[in-house]
Amino acid sequence: MSDTPELNEESVRAAADAALAAIAAADDSAALKAVRAEHLGEHSLLARLNAQLRNVPSDQKAVYGKLVGGARGRVNQAFAAKEQEISEAEAAAQLRAETLDVTAIPVPGRVGARHPLTLIQERVADVFVGMGWEVAEGPELESEWFNFDALNFDEDHPARAMQDTFFVDPVGSHLVLRTHTSPVQVRSLLERELPVYVVAPGRVYRTDELDATHLPVFSQIEGLAVDKGLTMAHLRGTLEHFARVMFGSEAKIRLRPNYFPFTEPSAELDIWHPAAKGGPRWIEWGGCGMVNANVLRATGVDPEVYSGFAFGMGLERTLQFRNDLSDMRDFLEGDIRFSQAFGMVV
Ligand code: PHE
Repeated sequence: MSDTPELNEESVRAAADAALAAIAAADDSAALKAVRAEHLGEHSLLARLNAQLRNVPSDQKAVYGKLVGGARGRVNQAFAAKEQEISEAEAAAQLRAETLDVTAIPVPGRVGARHPLTLIQERVADVFVGMGWEVAEGPELESEWFNFDALNFDEDHPARAMQDTFFVDPVGSHLVLRTHTSPVQVRSLLERELPVYVVAPGRVYRTDELDATHLPVFSQIEGLAVDKGLTMAHLRGTLEHFARVMFGSEAKIRLRPNYFPFTEPSAELDIWHPAAKGGPRWIEWGGCGMVNANVLRATGVDPEVYSGFAFGMGLERTLQFRNDLSDMRDFLEGDIRFSQAFGMVV
């Protein structure tokens, strides 16, 4: 401030020219703000020259006043014009940047998909709930008694062997990862009032190697009906209805003699799949039979008064031949594309 030049025509013009050049060079509002501080503010050269008017002899005050005032006026005017120009340009640029193309086709956000196993479990439950049945549950970590003993498995039945069943440490705990959903039959008979009509979907475990057709963890759906006067005809009718709902009105079932410790008689359940890939054919679907009297006795049900039927099938397997899937491992991958292929219903 101390180095303010002497007030004269030349110094005022030089200060005004410098201010005008700076204004002309500013190309955005930030630059213009800096110009204002330097050339128009109270510490600017022009302001300081203006302050020197105080020292001008009174007979020359008018001349110098006009000189400085005129210079400041030109600078202020140029500044105002530039300010307007910049603010208009910046507003236009912002509008351009914020332009929305209202005719653009939006990229749809990816929605998730429910897992086909969840869908089929709900679908099966719906079919049976529609007939007045209830949905039952049991633990995946199950006691050996529910998984085997109460279901009439012999002490030395091969299914109890280490190579099929995951036994849980310590061995003395007699806990296993349930190998089927049939222990829910026992739990239901112990916990519920008769008659009992339940379906129990759930996860089961076997010591199978993971490959295209085997999963060490898979899902089954169990069915159990215990009432007075139930016969094999009721089992057949129920399964036939179930088959038609799942595979279409052309579907049929076939029972072939088999053995399970917890049913007597027991049967292998085949389904005639009308829309099977490569043409209609019989496919092994699950197991079934009349509840063994020993199971009824183990749960306190009098086999002289009550009888019942039961069935069980694998759900991954059902989806595999129903939806023509080549690799069971896809159920475990968690790839959303696998789930999405099923849509929201199965
Ligand atoms: N629990 C048997 C299995 O896992 C299936 C089955 C269920 C058979 C009910 C008969 C009755 O193979």
